[in-house]
Amino acid sequence: MEEITWELFDRQVETCRLCVLCANIHHKVPGQGDRQSPLMLIGEGPGRDEDEQGLAFVGAAGQLLTRMLAAIHLPRERVYICNIVKCRPPQNRVPLPEEAEACRIHLRMQTYLVRPKVIVLLGATAARYTLDPNIRITRDRGKWTERKGVWMLPTFHPSALLRDETKKAAAWEDMQRLRDKLIELKLYPDLLGSGQ
Ligand code: URA
Repeated sequence: MEEITWELFDRQVETCRLCVLCANIHHKVPGQGDRQSPLMLIGEGPGRDEDEQGLAFVGAAGQLLTRMLAAIHLPRERVYICNIVKCRPPQNRVPLPEEAEACRIHLRMQTYLVRPKVIVLLGATAARYTLDPNIRITRDRGKWTERKGVWMLPTFHPSALLRDETKKAAAWEDMQRLRDKLIELKLYPDLLGSGQ
């Protein structure tokens, strides 16, 4: 079998035809950031800006996400960001189960390559396909689950925060939980120090 490498991943996403979403896109959006990051963030799927640029989380929600990370002293370039599906669903609809399932092969490969210690699941779609299909994000956000040594935290999607400001306080609590976990695990010592 061919060795799993970033080159293979890039090629596999670029040539993927496993579902119909790629029929109507400008660019695939595989994900980007530090490919050796201890922290991975997973969203739902590319929107219009992401589809135009081929980059994850570059629109309004992405800019909010960048500010949220900066608030806990994490520059965006130091994390890895990707989505459940790598092609924009029409009208930004939620990916269909068969689309998310088809794209799982790519997410599995990139998780294997990044080997994150902590994964933040942005919104219900990411949480359901990664952690548990029965998750309700309002009920289950902010709770840590450990799987095979990887800590996972579901939280609100930044788009939800843009639509409903009242969710921001809970999202901020989740960012504090994230920061505390990164410190506990001694990740990013140059940025987070011993947590004082
Ligand atoms: N929303 C997502 O879930 N992902 C993006 O990349 C942009 C917006």
